[in-house]
Amino acid sequence: MEKSNGLRVIMFPLPLQGCINPMLQLAKILLSRGFSITVIHTRYNAPKASSHPLVTFLEIPDGLSEIEKRTRDVTLLLTILNQRCESSFRDCLTKLLQSDDSEIEEEKQRISCLIDDLGWIFTQPLAKSLNLPRFVLNTYKVSFFKDHFLLPQLRREMYLPLQGLITNSEQDDIVEEFPPLRKKDLLRILDAETEVLDSYLNMMLETSKASSGLIFVSSCEELDQDSLSQARHDFQVPIFAIGPSHCYFPGSSSSLFTPDATCIPWLEKQEDKSVIYASFGSAVTISESELLEVAWGLRNSDQPFIWVVRIGSVNGAKWIEGIPEELMEKLREQGKIVKWAPQQEVLNHQAIGGFLTHNGWNSTVESVSEGVPMICSPFYWDQLQNARFVSEVWRVGLHLENRIERNEIERAIKRLLLETEGEAIRERMELLKEKVRRSVKPNGSAYRSLEHLIDHISSF
Ligand code: UDX
Repeated sequence: MEKSNGLRVIMFPLPLQGCINPMLQLAKILLSRGFSITVIHTRYNAPKASSHPLVTFLEIPDGLSEIEKRTRDVTLLLTILNQRCESSFRDCLTKLLQSDDSEIEEEKQRISCLIDDLGWIFTQPLAKSLNLPRFVLNTYKVSFFKDHFLLPQLRREMYLPLQGLITNSEQDDIVEEFPPLRKKDLLRILDAETEVLDSYLNMMLETSKASSGLIFVSSCEELDQDSLSQARHDFQVPIFAIGPSHCYFPGSSSSLFTPDATCIPWLEKQEDKSVIYASFGSAVTISESELLEVAWGLRNSDQPFIWVVRIGSVNGAKWIEGIPEELMEKLREQGKIVKWAPQQEVLNHQAIGGFLTHNGWNSTVESVSEGVPMICSPFYWDQLQNARFVSEVWRVGLHLENRIERNEIERAIKRLLLETEGEAIRERMELLKEKVRRSVKPNGSAYRSLEHLIDHISSF
């Protein structure tokens, strides 16, 4: 650990798995460069403080009721959190700034900046009023970040015409403003989202443009070159693409759930590149019939698998009790169903041959960094654009075209693991992995961007 540089960074992650993990990865990087870190967090989904002994954690009340905690409507959850956390966060931050200057010379520390998530919309005006530079941490791909602010405009101009689309060929057209998203993908994004989101998006756009800089923890020039230059032009604030940040400290994920420790010993017994890892991340839910389609798809592929089914992720069910016992017996012989996996370690294992994924951006980048080809089954939001990059731009995966259907899943697994098409995909993935891994090494693009970020926040 580097000697203290006398600077403290305040972090404020949104209480979602996809946000806490990257924020704490950034915390580890900054700690290793001599910064002290204070993480202010909500009571809801509080990070595990014991896993990060060098970080100071401060909890603030969030006022969420038990029913609100269980909502699956992320926009609603974020709106409520923004309303209920504003005053407690303001009090906490103000106190920290007042106690900033210790009487004891060796303990003197200056708070250099606040780093929080895009989804907090009250923090920018607050930081400005306190004269504290605020950086926005982003967990999206840069292209989605930049393009998704166009959604309100696309809804106004394209939603009705899109709904009227009848021919398949038009549905497959690329949306010019949002490449490589296809019109049918855009329809799915707009269908699922309400107008409430539009005003929320406009506020996030405004507060991002007013910030002291944008930090992309899971992007680098190699994954996002065009979008990065466009975003720099559009936002006119410093942009740092320092990722994939988990590569700086491999295997140090900050999971909200306890990973099943039996996965790795089980993988040790499998042949190289033979296992399918299936997981739809921390937020997606599926129906009981989709659960059965995945179960049959895995079964019929005849390949070993690790399948993550989160508690509460199957609508109307506790867990996997909807799978008939006869099928369960076969699944148990062939693979493992777990409630949560040590994903980064699993993807890093030589036995893994493919990843059936929802294409959340963290999962996508973790798969690329480990060179694991994907079977894309996106559900909503950025996942739809990420999946197009994987399957059509980088060509390192197969797209299920939104069909969670047993034959499609079986076919995709066999194409990927057993056929020559899969070999070609694997070769392209290996090249992409090498490029991305090089970017976090000294002199790589992400590494240089990280150095730039550190110089920048040290200057405040
Ligand atoms: C959410 C949104 O769904 C996604 O669209 C957006 O890109 C990020 O925020 P989430 O569903 O959590 O993300 O998926 P993802 O971004 O892939 O992040 C999941 C994280 O949980 C990954 O870091 C993954 O390693 C971890 N994970 C997942 C585990 O550690 N174990 C598991 O069993 C499953």
